[in-house]
Amino acid sequence: VQTGQNVSAPVALPVQEATKPKNITILFASQTGIAQGLAKKYGEQLKELGFEVNVSSMSDFKTNNLKKLDHLLVIASTHGEGEPPDNAISFHSFLQGKRAPKLNHVKFAVLSLGDSSYEFFCQTGKDFDAFLEKLGAERIVDRVDCDLDFDEPASKWFESVKEKLQQGAVVQSLSEKEAASTVLSVPTTEYSRKNPFHAEILEKINLNGQGSNKETIHLELSLEESGLTYEPGDSLAIIPTNNEKLVSALITSLGFDPKKQVKVGDETVTLESALINLLEITVLSKPVLEKIAQYTSNEELQQLLSDREKFKEYSYGRDLIDVVETFGPFNWDAQQFVDTLRKIPARQYSISSSQTAYPDEVHLTIGAVRYEVDGRERLGVCSTQVADQLEVGDKVRVYVQHSPNFKLPSDETPIIMIGPGTGIAPFRSFIQEREERGAEGKSWLFFGDQHFVTDFLYQTELQRWVKDGVLTKLNVAFSRDQEEKVYVQHKMLAHAKELYSWLQEGAVVYVCGDKDHMAKDVHETLINIIAEQGNQTKEQAEEYLANLQKEKRYQRDVY
Ligand code: 2AM
Repeated sequence: VQTGQNVSAPVALPVQEATKPKNITILFASQTGIAQGLAKKYGEQLKELGFEVNVSSMSDFKTNNLKKLDHLLVIASTHGEGEPPDNAISFHSFLQGKRAPKLNHVKFAVLSLGDSSYEFFCQTGKDFDAFLEKLGAERIVDRVDCDLDFDEPASKWFESVKEKLQQGAVVQSLSEKEAASTVLSVPTTEYSRKNPFHAEILEKINLNGQGSNKETIHLELSLEESGLTYEPGDSLAIIPTNNEKLVSALITSLGFDPKKQVKVGDETVTLESALINLLEITVLSKPVLEKIAQYTSNEELQQLLSDREKFKEYSYGRDLIDVVETFGPFNWDAQQFVDTLRKIPARQYSISSSQTAYPDEVHLTIGAVRYEVDGRERLGVCSTQVADQLEVGDKVRVYVQHSPNFKLPSDETPIIMIGPGTGIAPFRSFIQEREERGAEGKSWLFFGDQHFVTDFLYQTELQRWVKDGVLTKLNVAFSRDQEEKVYVQHKMLAHAKELYSWLQEGAVVYVCGDKDHMAKDVHETLINIIAEQGNQTKEQAEEYLANLQKEKRYQRDVY
């Protein structure tokens, strides 16, 4: 039907054309992928509002482009003792250095992520906030420091950033069609802490033999119907529950009624259920103890909180029962007590399977954590829940955490993998993936544990991969099978020449496992090998390794 008039004719755009849309760069400093996830999510939302957005890992951002920045959002996690994540190391040092340009033209905001049970809480975010200010950039909203339960404070920060960005902004709104397709491109199953997938346990095996000091659980979970996807190097987060015996001992020491109703967020549950399912009771963070200290006049607790070293020593490995026994009684009711606590955090485990090999499954390699303090046995919350409480057929609450830093290179690139103990996990995934893809690149694994007979994790699989040529070289170090300790780095040293020649051929080096001892010693060993084999000074060798890191040829997943 001809109406004689085209009703859908575009309305001429007003002067808007003359004003450029705001240009926003979002840089993330991310070790395990949480900051990356937020950066991508916020980036999408800003794009939908019509902004020009560029989301980038700090390690991919060219510092030349600082001059062209308009609006900069920094989302930064902190790693370990206040250190920047690996993908942020070089940008972090660049901004502090002499070569950093003036940034008077830049408007910025920083969101920092961290864990308040660490002393240097959110340090990396604080650093970036201070560097940018010092370089003359203008802060558009105050920095927000988030604890493990970051959803709410992060959203609030983003809402105020959005508000500032929209003030006086002339943005070209996407056409409806474009907007709809943007929404469609976001995965429909966005499982998260708030909305985890309930994965069924298909298989559970203790990989250690009888008589071992270790208990390492190989766990196979079903992802059927979840639509969840992962790549080698990604992690799986599990939301654990607290041990019921520990919870009832805590309630007894507090003298509360376990059935008393309390509010946690918008949920009303029994005290018992809150402590089992929702709250953290096994880690003593300073902010929590500061809140608790308000309910007692006990001087000792105040003193502990004002002495850095003493606090560190006391909080290590202790839990809330210790606090109640050492510093009680407290003048509070069940609700006030509950209000002092943090939400129970998810635990992240490096995935030990390849989805190419197991499309509907995800495998984990979990070391059960048990130790003794003050004559009482302490249990790692998630690892011993898996080891002691869960059985095949049970379900666990999970979501995938995509890794920004730990990734396989192209199929031809040689890889060197150093992963003692549960550090083997991502490398099982790497090798499986390369086998499935028929990747041509050489691969070399250094594995270590206490004893050959009981602790050679995935021994049969690894040996088959060597036999089939999927794994080019395998070197193992069993530390307690002889008088002298033998560690992975000793095996690396013994093969220094060949290792260096792999590096010269372009190999990527991966390290996974213990951060405080193993990863430090392996780092030193790499420097020594490079110095000796490459006839370099220690400083040159350090620079060589730093460059490898910049080029993503030295990647770590350490904890
Ligand atoms: P140990 O317990 O006998 O000292 C996995 O846990 C393996 O890592 C074990 O064999 C353990 O040895 C070893 N390990 C401990 N400290 C290490 C270090 N600093 N460097 C390398 N391996 C280490």
